Amino acid sequence: MLENMSNENVAVVVGAQGVIGRTLVDHLSSLDGWRVVGLSRRGAEPTDRVQHLSVDLLDRAASKATLSELKDATHIFYAAYQDRPSWSELVEPNVNMLVNAVDGIEAAAPGLRHVSLMQGYKVYGAHLGPFKTPARESDPGHLPPEFNISQQDFLEQRSGSWTWSALRPSVVCGFGLGNPMNLAMVIAVYASISKELGVPLRFPGKPGAYDALLEMTDAGLLAHAAVWAATAPSAANQAFNINNGDLFRWSEMWPKIGDWFGLPVAPPLPMSLTEVMADKEPLWQRMSERHDLKYGYREVSSWPFGDAVFGWDYDVIADGSKARRFGFHEFVDTERMFYDIFDEFRRRKVIP
Ligand SMILES: NC(=O)c1ccc[n+]([C@@H]2O[C@H](COP(=O)([O-])OP(=O)(O)OC[C@H]3O[C@@H](n4cnc5c(N)ncnc54)[C@H](OP(=O)(O)O)[C@@H]3O)[C@@H](O)[C@H]2O)c1
Repeated sequence: MLENMSNENVAVVVGAQGVIGRTLVDHLSSLDGWRVVGLSRRGAEPTDRVQHLSVDLLDRAASKATLSELKDATHIFYAAYQDRPSWSELVEPNVNMLVNAVDGIEAAAPGLRHVSLMQGYKVYGAHLGPFKTPARESDPGHLPPEFNISQQDFLEQRSGSWTWSALRPSVVCGFGLGNPMNLAMVIAVYASISKELGVPLRFPGKPGAYDALLEMTDAGLLAHAAVWAATAPSAANQAFNINNGDLFRWSEMWPKIGDWFGLPVAPPLPMSLTEVMADKEPLWQRMSERHDLKYGYREVSSWPFGDAVFGWDYDVIADGSKARRFGFHEFVDTERMFYDIFDEFRRRKVIP
């Protein structure tokens, strides 16, 4: 299937329909010398430079059969994710998917050179509560269960004929549909519905969360960083925090987001988005008909993730200087990032 007639790299993006994976596919396919195979359960239409395979990585036998096609794979970019209701339940499926992907591809592809792992600030316990900030890659670990750490342990043990790298982004903002963790979508749909209902834009999180210090990671920046880390010899077998490079508080960013939507901002009011957005599907359908929107309410809803992020009434920041010291110098202006993503959502008819 994949006949490698040249010395080009063949990237297998695992989780190609994700907030992170989609942008990785786009970036890799824009680079000279790379061919791309995307893996996901739902699959997608192929393009000139991107082939998609549909595979359920939780099914070990079926994965092995499907992945045996990938004889020319040189790099794995692992960004698949299975959501579960508790931190401990995340471990088994997420480790199994990585193991099945690596086992299947490694067995088929003698030229496999690198496995890139997508992690996050969960490595530092950011999801558990106030943690030591800025978090550094050299910080001591915390008690398991934590799937990011178990996944990295697996790569460290299995590497040898190939190297690995691990990327640790903050909240990742980009385009994606039907994803459990998509903060830009949460904000865009929440603001669009607020506008439709004629109410001001209110920060829905905990009072302390409005003033906590945060940072974001643009999905495009993360894709550039992942390719850098997968190919720079100095980055082999290392983990890197990857963030936009600027810090903000919602108290400053929220009015700017309101400006983009043409909405006045009123004082924060803590509320569960999961609860208050539960009855908004009929409203979204009416908005979709009137504004010719293309995507159903389920595809644009990740309210529990919004509740989690807006509940962080403590600083969520990690030191990004290790990546710079090792040679990755790109950065993104977070205000510009939100505006660009909202523009894209509007262009693609995700929001009015
Ligand atoms: N999103 C963020 O803000 C964020 C921030 C920091 C770190 N991270 C980390 O980055 C990683 C990726 O996150 P993400 O938000 O990009 O995930 P996501 O949007 O939920 O995407 C997950 C991808 O995995 C695929 N997938 C799920 N189950 C599969 C299965 N059984 N077999 C094959 N493919 C499967 C999905 O496609 P199908 O559904 O079609 O199978 C999708 O392409 C996770 O480890 C996450 O913790 C994310």
